[in-house]
Amino acid sequence: MYSKIIGTGGYLPNKILTNKDLESIVDTTDDWIVERTGIKQRHISEPSETTSSMATKASIEAIKNAKINNSDIDLIIVATTTPDMVFPSTACIVQNNLNIKAPAFDVQAACTGFIYAMSIADNFIKTGSCKNILIIGAEKYSNLLDWSDRSTCVLFGDGAGALILSANSEEGIISTHIHADGQYNNLLDVKDDHIRMKGNEVFKVAVNTLSKLVDETLEKNNMKKNDIDWLVPHQANLRIIKAAAKKLSMSLDQVVVTVDDHANTSAASIPLAFDQAVRDGRIKNDQVVLLEAFGSGFTWGSVLLRY
Ligand code: UT7
Repeated sequence: MYSKIIGTGGYLPNKILTNKDLESIVDTTDDWIVERTGIKQRHISEPSETTSSMATKASIEAIKNAKINNSDIDLIIVATTTPDMVFPSTACIVQNNLNIKAPAFDVQAACTGFIYAMSIADNFIKTGSCKNILIIGAEKYSNLLDWSDRSTCVLFGDGAGALILSANSEEGIISTHIHADGQYNNLLDVKDDHIRMKGNEVFKVAVNTLSKLVDETLEKNNMKKNDIDWLVPHQANLRIIKAAAKKLSMSLDQVVVTVDDHANTSAASIPLAFDQAVRDGRIKNDQVVLLEAFGSGFTWGSVLLRY
């Protein structure tokens, strides 16, 4: 039995904060942000919007696109580092919003959270425990930002993406790979409710680690670089994305890039990018897609799948 994606959904807040807007908040420039990160703007939620409300909106769309009913879902997993509250989990709040009677829990692996959630869901399906799993990546990073710290506040945005993973006899997820190394925990963390990052050091480890992850994923499946049709990377920095594409000898035309519009939405970035490329017809049935992410912890991981 395979796990196959049968529907996707995404939600981005309407309010847009451009780099130009940020120039009046901190000592930065549009040129610096674009050149160093590829980010042009980010979406920022209203005070009344929560991680769970954004997650719910993305889920409603994913369930509709999957052409199933809420009652068909037998597990809900939310990947987030910005839960509405410590408990109940954001997944339980979404479960109640959608009136679904199924187990629900959150996964916290920072920017790699969605990859961890997909890996967990894939195993629930392979063991025959579940048939339709709602997996969500949702974040309200605007709450975690120190709006006087130019080295972090320009990098992140809010949003939510969701997909339905379903038991299927056709090939879907080919393999999942998840990793962690806690020795780097002080390079990227949240202290006193704000993100602190030694960006330059994180950057170097991220590029090296993602390069090894590509090798690991291809070797495990006896696949070659040109077997992959699409790369859907975590959207932290266009320079990191370009390095991963180069490693795969891929042109940027085969890479789904949303960092210019969304900035870094942490656990939401991969499902949002995936949903966008499915909806606009870039990712087609039967194509091979590599998802990969790197984040605080450090955590990193990949999912190789046939869509
Ligand atoms: O998603 C989870 C994982 N996170 C990542 O993968 C992020 C990895 N890191 C990065 O993406 C990059 O390191 C950053 C985008 C965060 C920073 O880019 P960088 O090229 O590594 O710049 P830097 O930190 O080395 O800073 C270079 C200069 C510094 O000035 P000096 O010391 O050279 O005078 C900074 O103070 O840029 C300065 N700077 C800024 N200037 C204008 C830092 N932030 C800004 C800013 N506007 N917003």
